[in-house]
Amino acid sequence: MIEAVIWKNDHLDLLDQTLLPEQTIYLVLTTSEQSFEAIRNLRVRGAPAIGITAAYGLFLGMNHSMASTREEFLAELDQMIEYLSSARPTAVNLFWALDEMKKSVTAMGSTDVDTLKSVLLVRAKAIHKDDRQRCQDIGDHGKSLVPNSAGILTHCNAGALATGGIGTALGVIYKAHSENKDIMVYADETRPILQGARLTAWELNQAGVPVELICDSMSGTLMQQKKIDLVIVGADRIAADGSVANKIGTYNVAVLAAHHNIPFYVAAPLSTFDMNLDSGDSIPIEIRDSDEIRNFAGKAIIALPEIDCWNPAFDVTPPELITGIITEKGVIKPPYKQNIRLKMESAN
Ligand code: MRU
Repeated sequence: MIEAVIWKNDHLDLLDQTLLPEQTIYLVLTTSEQSFEAIRNLRVRGAPAIGITAAYGLFLGMNHSMASTREEFLAELDQMIEYLSSARPTAVNLFWALDEMKKSVTAMGSTDVDTLKSVLLVRAKAIHKDDRQRCQDIGDHGKSLVPNSAGILTHCNAGALATGGIGTALGVIYKAHSENKDIMVYADETRPILQGARLTAWELNQAGVPVELICDSMSGTLMQQKKIDLVIVGADRIAADGSVANKIGTYNVAVLAAHHNIPFYVAAPLSTFDMNLDSGDSIPIEIRDSDEIRNFAGKAIIALPEIDCWNPAFDVTPPELITGIITEKGVIKPPYKQNIRLKMESAN
């Protein structure tokens, strides 16, 4: 299975996803600035993969630190965390991973700066490894929700390219496929960045999973024609009430699925839950450059520069449209407020 992020002794090999599917090129990252740039410009994307890259990026930055005392090191660490946190606003895994990194240093009483640096690398590797296992467990908990013969719609890319393992939504699909279930995946192309076309269709095809690519506007007709048995998507942030921020267009799919009585599942690790936010209204939504809409795939101009555009990268699907949230600790069902809290408490 393709790997988006690979740690190699002293640097990160990062698959440049902006070049897919035409070129498979790994970038060599040795600094926090390069990690920031890769996250900001979507060379690495998908909530868990962003968190993993930020964790390694923090180590790469702090490994260059000239601090001679613990206090100096911690002050620099805070600055570096603030810097990396500003790479993208919506995926909570970014902040979660950086917070985990900070906790690992503060829990370590050592005053030796080299020891603190090595603690950061150990923690970044653990976050990476842990995500790999979470994906496996999400797949195992979700696979029984897939009927033996099923048409599955997915939106954006929540696969190996978006995580440290086999993916969240696609993790469920890979596990169902490995049990010889007769599945057909319909991948929304996912305008404007085309993660569905460039990444999901490519990734599933490479893995030998049957996939058909559709334009975003076609999912309603597919449902009307009874070709979709369930929808599975990933998440960038889930509020305490079960509201799910995910790639723009996810909400449209959820409304369509509800109209057609089709189960709508979200697959995400517990690191994607933000218990500090009571509802979806307070999830920060990234607004991206208008040129992403004016140009198609960054190649053809489809609207003139004077045309105003609105380009939110994510939307929020309300809990009442979600059939279940598949996590590494099992499937959370409504009532979400209560069941998410119980799941988070039992996981701690
Ligand atoms: O803008 P992106 O490509 O980072 O958006 C990614 C998504 O919306 C994914 O569905 C989400 O991060 C889940 S990845 C397991």
